[in-house]
Amino acid sequence: MHGFADVDSQSDPNSWVGVLDRLTTEPFYQAYQERVRELLHPTPGRRYVEVGAGTGASAARLRNEHDVSVATVDRSLTMTAAMQARGLTQCAVGDAHRLPFVDNSFDGAWADRTLQHVADPPAAIKELVRVVRPSGRIVLADPDYDTQVLDITDQNLARRVLRFRADVLLRNGTLAHQHAGLLATHGLVDVTVEPRTLLVRNPTAVDNVFGLRSWAATAAQRGALDPTEAHAFEDQFDEAVNANRFTYAVTFFLTAATVPSHGSARQENVRR
Ligand SMILES: C[S@@+](CC[C@H](N)C(=O)[O-])C[C@H]1O[C@@H](n2cnc3c(N)ncnc32)[C@H](O)[C@@H]1O
Repeated sequence: MHGFADVDSQSDPNSWVGVLDRLTTEPFYQAYQERVRELLHPTPGRRYVEVGAGTGASAARLRNEHDVSVATVDRSLTMTAAMQARGLTQCAVGDAHRLPFVDNSFDGAWADRTLQHVADPPAAIKELVRVVRPSGRIVLADPDYDTQVLDITDQNLARRVLRFRADVLLRNGTLAHQHAGLLATHGLVDVTVEPRTLLVRNPTAVDNVFGLRSWAATAAQRGALDPTEAHAFEDQFDEAVNANRFTYAVTFFLTAATVPSHGSARQENVRR
């Protein structure tokens, strides 16, 4: 299973803390995460929760920059220890499918690059909606790997490797464009979607573009690609880098919505 779906069972769980720390230094990540926090409409003194909070970098910024109270949930003990080391104090080890809070506990909740890893995204969304009070905010952010492009010579081979990444290496790698629909199903209102495209020209940036060069070898190990095709992918990848034409892009979707006030259809939808 992909590392972030079960960090603690990986051979070196702390290395995943390092992955998140490196991504946090990327301007693209800093900018879209700032927008995620804005979309929560943070108001001083109010209470927010991040589900799948990782190292808690964004949660700490929300708390420090908006004078709000922030709780975090993550299923990983390793990530929870990293959050506590960062000075976050309301850190629960828990599962997105069963949040350890009573109904209407928060003024807003967000999940940033978490739904792509969970076993049952609709159930996780239902939990986010349950714990947020009427008129509170929900924000979801994820890349949608159906939007990937890569410039190597053999575009068919590129598509097959990118498809493998989207469909096999992630549980829900192509769900982000459906977040708005899922939130609407719960009766949420004011649903907005903002696309943000991550464009990478430097193959060593964004943690080596998520390890992109190795995806073909992994596909070959799992029988999804012939080993000669995996070598061809690596050769063409290196060729693109050497020719200074390396280009990879994937679009993230930032989806936000408001929980309707009492007496609306939401109560029927959620509690059924
Ligand atoms: C890619 S990281 C993103 C972390 C953080 N949101 C950020 O923006 O840096 C995904 C996080 O979700 C957590 N996670 C994955 N599945 C989960 C689940 N079912 N319940 C709670 N957390 C989960 C992982 O442990 C990991 O910390």
